[in-house]
Amino acid sequence: MLDTKASAPGKIILFGEHAVVYGRPAIAVPLSQVRATAVIKSSHNKGVQLHAPDLGIDTGLKEAGAEDAIAIAVRQVQDAAGLDHLPHMTITVTSEIPIASGLGSGASITAAVIRALAVYLDLAHLVTDEWVSRLTYEVEKVHHGTPSGIDNTVVAYERPVYFVRHHPLNHIETFEIAEPLRLLIADTGVSSSTKSVVTDVRRCWQKEPERFESIFDGCGEIAVAARAAIESGNRREIGRLMTRNQALLVEMTVSSSELNHLVGVSLGAGALGAKLSGGGRGGNMIALVTRETEEAVYNALSQAGARSVLRNVII
Ligand code: MEV
Repeated sequence: MLDTKASAPGKIILFGEHAVVYGRPAIAVPLSQVRATAVIKSSHNKGVQLHAPDLGIDTGLKEAGAEDAIAIAVRQVQDAAGLDHLPHMTITVTSEIPIASGLGSGASITAAVIRALAVYLDLAHLVTDEWVSRLTYEVEKVHHGTPSGIDNTVVAYERPVYFVRHHPLNHIETFEIAEPLRLLIADTGVSSSTKSVVTDVRRCWQKEPERFESIFDGCGEIAVAARAAIESGNRREIGRLMTRNQALLVEMTVSSSELNHLVGVSLGAGALGAKLSGGGRGGNMIALVTRETEEAVYNALSQAGARSVLRNVII
C-alpha cells in the first residue's frame, strides 16, 4: 500500500459559539495556517502503531486506552468500513494547533487521521468531506459529550460554514467571504476544556432557562446579521457584531478576565471588533483589523500579555 498523508486545518468560530449547541446559527471558518497532519506507512511490525509526539501518544492500537483520541478515530473508520482486520501500519500525527485553546485541535487531528486512513485503505466512499465530518463528529462525541457538530464540519469541509444544529440532519451551508477579513488571533495562555465549559453553560441554562434562551436568541440573530454583512463585505458591521456577540458571551459566563482584557485592549487600539472564539474561559480571542490598524492592535495585544499573537490571518 502507498504511504499516505492527509491534513486538516484549525478553525475559528466567528459567531455563535455555545448558542450553536442549542440550535442557533453559527459561523466558523477554517484556519489554514495551522494544521494537523497524519502520515500512514506500511510496517513490518505487527498491528497498528500510533505515534503522536504532541499528544504524548506512542502505543499500539490494541493497547491504546479507551480515551485515546487517535485510536478512537481509527476504530471509527474500521467500523464504518466493516473491516475485521487492519493491515500492519504506522500512523504518525503531528499538529501545529495549540491544544485546549479554542482553535479546533481535537477535531482537526481526528479529521486528518480519518481522511488519511480512508485514503490508505482505498475506501473511496469515506473520503468525502461529508463522511470525514460525520466520523469526526462521532469521535467528538466521545470527547465532548454534546458537541454541536460545527467543529468537525468546518475542519472537514475547509470552507467557511454557516451551521445550524438540527435533528436528524444539520443545516450546513458553505459560503464565500466577499471581501477578505484580516484577523489577529491572540492566545491568553490559559488552557481551557471545551467540554467542561459546555457542561457549565448547560447547568446555567437549566437554572435560568428563560434568561439563557434569550441570550442564545441574541447570538443567533447576530449570526444571521453577520452572514449578510460577510456576504456584502461590510467590515464595520462585522466588527460591531463581533463585539456585541462578545457581550453576550460575557453574560453567558464563558469569558474570563484575560479574554475581556485582550478584547478591550484590541478595541482601544482600533480593532473594528473583538471577541473570544471557541469554548472560552481561556484559549484565544480574535480581533478584526484593517491593514492600517493591524500593527497598532498587534503591539497592544503583545504588550497586554498575550502569550502569542497570530497575524496576517486573512480569511
Ligand atoms: C467549540 O468550538 C464551540 C462550542 O460551541 C461547542 C460546540 O459547538 O460543540 C463551544
